[in-house]
Amino acid sequence: MKKRFITSITATFLFSASAYAAVSTHTTVEAPAISATCVGCHGADGNSVVPNFPKLAGQHAAYIEKQLKDFRGGFRKDATMAPFAKKLTDDEIKALSDFYAAQPAK
Ligand code: HEC
Repeated sequence: MKKRFITSITATFLFSASAYAAVSTHTTVEAPAISATCVGCHGADGNSVVPNFPKLAGQHAAYIEKQLKDFRGGFRKDATMAPFAKKLTDDEIKALSDFYAAQPAK
């Protein structure tokens, strides 16, 4: 019983240590310059405070990338987002996706 308790404490410690490591490496992703055009609606770190504008912080990078490419290609339609997405290159989309995915959701 005692051994089991210690194992569970150790597991908890290891889990939180790795969670912490993941967060601290992620937050070092720098904001790409192009994100200045997104700030007004999505917030500096992707934590939008306006209910109509989705939060980008903490979403999966692959999901953000797909949405931006879908807006750009017209597969996902939104009159507000489309003009911004249409100007983005593949490299900018990748940098934006990595940046927002690395920001902690608040
Ligand atoms: C004028 C306001 C505005 C600006 C500027 C803007 N967006 Fe958006 N964005 C929106 C709105 C509104 C939506 C929700 C669209 C919908 O309902 O489908 C959205 C949706 C998104 C989504 C999909 C989120 C999800 O959860 O599906 C992504 C990703 C995104 N924006 C990224 C960006 C990036 C990156 C930029 C800068 C290049 C940017 N946006 C600039 C208003 C804006």
